[in-house]
Amino acid sequence: MSILVMGATGTVGRSLVAKLAASGESVKALTRDAGRDLGFPPGVEVREGDFRKPESMREALRGIERAYLLADPDVAHSVVAQLREAGVKRLVTLASAMLDERDDQGNVVNVIESAVQGSGADWTVLRPRAFANNALDWWAPTIRAERAVYWVYPGASLSPIHEADVAAVAAAALTQDGHAGKTYPLTGPESLTQAEQVRIIGEVIGADIAFHELSKEQARHVLTSQHIPEMIVDRLLNMLEPMVETEAPVQPTVEQVTGRPARTFREWVSDNADAFR
Ligand SMILES: NC(=O)c1ccc[n+]([C@@H]2O[C@H](COP(=O)([O-])OP(=O)(O)OC[C@H]3O[C@@H](n4cnc5c(N)ncnc54)[C@H](OP(=O)(O)O)[C@@H]3O)[C@@H](O)[C@H]2O)c1
Repeated sequence: MSILVMGATGTVGRSLVAKLAASGESVKALTRDAGRDLGFPPGVEVREGDFRKPESMREALRGIERAYLLADPDVAHSVVAQLREAGVKRLVTLASAMLDERDDQGNVVNVIESAVQGSGADWTVLRPRAFANNALDWWAPTIRAERAVYWVYPGASLSPIHEADVAAVAAAALTQDGHAGKTYPLTGPESLTQAEQVRIIGEVIGADIAFHELSKEQARHVLTSQHIPEMIVDRLLNMLEPMVETEAPVQPTVEQVTGRPARTFREWVSDNADAFR
C-alpha cells in the first residue's frame, strides 16, 4: 500500500514517516525541497511537491492510495480534489481548533475537515489540542539562554500531546480498518498549567527556571515581533485566556486507538531535553 505523508519534515509528519516505515509500509514523504539531507529511515521514498502549486504535485501523487493530508486552509479543497483525481482513496488529516471559522449562519466550520468530509474518500480527522512540542517555540530559546521563560497566563491549563501519539493515531487510521468517518479529539494524559509544564522541564534538565509573566499585550508584542501572523497570535492568546483556573480536557482517544496510554509531558521533555539545555 502506497502512503503519502504530507508535512513529512514537520513535527507530526516526521514521526509518522518513521512509524509507517518501521511497520513495513511503502512510505512516500512529501517535501518542497528534496535536494537536502532529510534524515528519513532507509526505504522511505522522498517526493518533491508544493501543495500550493498543483503542477508540482502531479508526479508526487503518482500511485498513491492513501494520504496523511496537511494543507493550508485556503487551498484545502483544491488539494483534496487533486488527491482524489490522482486515485487516493483514504485521507487522514490534522485539523485544529485554531483553524475554525464561522460560516454565514454563524456555525463553526473547519475548512480542512469539511474538505475531507466532502471528498468521497474514506476520511479520518485528527483534532489534537495543544502539542507538547509548542514548548520548543515558546520557551526553549530563553530557557537555554537564561533559564527563564517570558510568557503569558502561567495558570492556563493544557493537556499537551506528544507528537508521536498523534502520529501513532494517524498511522492506525491510515493502515487499519474501523477509523473511516471518525473525528478523533486528541490530548495528552494530564491537565497541566503552563507553570507546571515549565517546572517539569526544569526538573528534567536539573535547573531552576523562572516564569516571568507577561501581560496579554506584552505577549502579543513579543509574538508578532517574531513574524508570527497577527491572526494566529490573537487566536492563540484568546484560546489561552479562558484556560486559566480551569482543568484542560483529557481525552482517552490515544489509548483507545493505539492500545497504549498517551505519553506524558515529562516523557516528551525527556525525549527533547537537549533542546532546553
Ligand atoms: N501546535 C499545536 O499545538 C497544534 C495543535 C493542533 C493542531 N495543529 C496543527 O498542526 C499543523 C502543523 O503540523 P506539524 O506541526 O506537524 O507541521 P510543522 O512542523 O508546522 O511543519 C509543516 C510541514 O508542512 C510542510 N509544508 C508547508 N508548506 C507546504 C507546501 N506549500 N507544500 C508542501 N508541504 C508544505 C513542510 O514541509 P517542507 O518545508 O519540507 O516542504 C513541513 O513538513 C497545523 O495545521 C496546525 O494547525 C497544531
